[in-house]
Amino acid sequence: MENKSNRKSRRDFLKLTAIGTAAASLAPLSGSFAMNAEEHSDVLPSVVSPQPPKEKRKSAMGLSCEPIETVRIAVIGVGMRGSDAVRRLLQVEGVKILALCDPVLQLVKESNKTITDAGLPAAAEYTGDTDWQKVCERNDIDLVYSCTPWYLHTPIAVYAMKCGKHIATEVPAAMTLDECWQLVNTAEETQRHCMMLENCCYDFFEMATLNMARNDVFGEILHAEGAYIHDLRWLKFAEENKGGYYHQWRLEYSRKHNGSLYPTHGLGPIAQIMGINRGDRFDYLTSMSTKQAGMSLYAAAKYGAGSPEALQEYKLGDMNTTLIHTVKGHTLMIQHDTTSPRPYNRIHLISGTKGMAVKYPEQNIALEPSAHEFLKKEDFDALMQKYEHPLSKQIGEKARKVGGHGGMDFIMDYRLIYCLRKGLPLDQDVYDAAAWSSIVQLSEISVNKKSRSIEVPDFTRGAWVNAQPWPIVTIE
Ligand SMILES: NC(=O)c1ccc[n+]([C@@H]2O[C@H](COP(=O)([O-])OP(=O)(O)OC[C@H]3O[C@@H](n4cnc5c(N)ncnc54)[C@H](O)[C@@H]3O)[C@@H](O)[C@H]2O)c1
Repeated sequence: MENKSNRKSRRDFLKLTAIGTAAASLAPLSGSFAMNAEEHSDVLPSVVSPQPPKEKRKSAMGLSCEPIETVRIAVIGVGMRGSDAVRRLLQVEGVKILALCDPVLQLVKESNKTITDAGLPAAAEYTGDTDWQKVCERNDIDLVYSCTPWYLHTPIAVYAMKCGKHIATEVPAAMTLDECWQLVNTAEETQRHCMMLENCCYDFFEMATLNMARNDVFGEILHAEGAYIHDLRWLKFAEENKGGYYHQWRLEYSRKHNGSLYPTHGLGPIAQIMGINRGDRFDYLTSMSTKQAGMSLYAAAKYGAGSPEALQEYKLGDMNTTLIHTVKGHTLMIQHDTTSPRPYNRIHLISGTKGMAVKYPEQNIALEPSAHEFLKKEDFDALMQKYEHPLSKQIGEKARKVGGHGGMDFIMDYRLIYCLRKGLPLDQDVYDAAAWSSIVQLSEISVNKKSRSIEVPDFTRGAWVNAQPWPIVTIE
């Protein structure tokens, strides 16, 4: 059973430290999905030159589906992230949560209480390890919303689509190239939406800089940088009953994998700004990791220098830097560091022929003709006001009240439901989910081969050439 006060303190920490993430464990994963985590570990280093499947399928680029007046949702995984999703979704118009699924009964009960406290009928409860399949099979669900550990993202997404449901899944959507292709193939076969819930695309500065980019404020954007720098060591080592993750699942990945394990928070917003999969695409990458030090030092301090935790191997180098080259000759740098004593940082730097913007550690913009200095505060504020994204203009105030990483989580949910209700294409589609998530395994392959250049598959099968960049959307 979960310890309520510990889970609460972890939630509070995660709220304070912006993006909370996931964990893996020293203890072996148990239950029927232990094999999934193991399979991920075994398959990673062996894949060198991934190839797309040969057969031709109908594209899911720009996919629009029948409008859904009331979106009936099942939330699978109601731990830290999923329980907050339940709270937020209840505040979006046109939503019903009909099913909750998690092997930890107490968590299901707590989320159901959130629903009934809002004066709504309780959702059906599922608590078996494989009950997510039964949930996907229900005939009264439109959208499966999955907030489970990484190794369950693709299995649940694929099964949900095969059952005719749209899927919204937490980040990364896939941990291997094979899983990326499974998502693409299934979305194309079923013509169902597969959205990775990359909430950072909906943060206020990220959306404003997207709007500026679309209005040519930065000129041709040649280079961009993003990161996930977040010291998560205590959380990785926290036991499940003391505020840690389910079966300490993130620690397992730190033990067994190197590379950019969690790339999409930094990558998603800059990939959208640079029109990746819409006019340009990732071509190849090279990746390099430092040695590992932080996990061992932390474990020695916590458990003792001679403890198994301190002595065991952690493959994940503390800082990973991945450089991606696009077909159009642009570059992106992505960093991942969850084990160094550093302040939280996603960088979010955009550099073009007319100027640049950066978010961390301080929001700043520099523009020609005096780009050698950042804009003065009043000029910065005026620019931000001029280019505030229509979505944040329209629902930013409510989003800040509802919360979820300062409001971006609510904007993401709101926009997802809005598009489903209107029958519009989603802002992030299955090709984004696959391309952004593919960096997990591709970076590991490159790191393991002395940073050799590795090709990124074209998950769109050529559709990126004519696809249009994400538009500056408004809501009625
Ligand atoms: N986008 C963000 O800002 C953000 C923030 C935090 C976490 N996340 C992501 O959300 C996901 C969940 O992270 P978390 O922090 O909530 O971790 P968590 O361990 O608290 O939650 C995972 C939940 O999944 C449940 N689960 C495990 N096996 C299951 C199964 N077979 N069927 C159904 N449920 C199962 C667990 O019981 C647990 O409640 C991860 O993918 C993580 O990367 C994203």
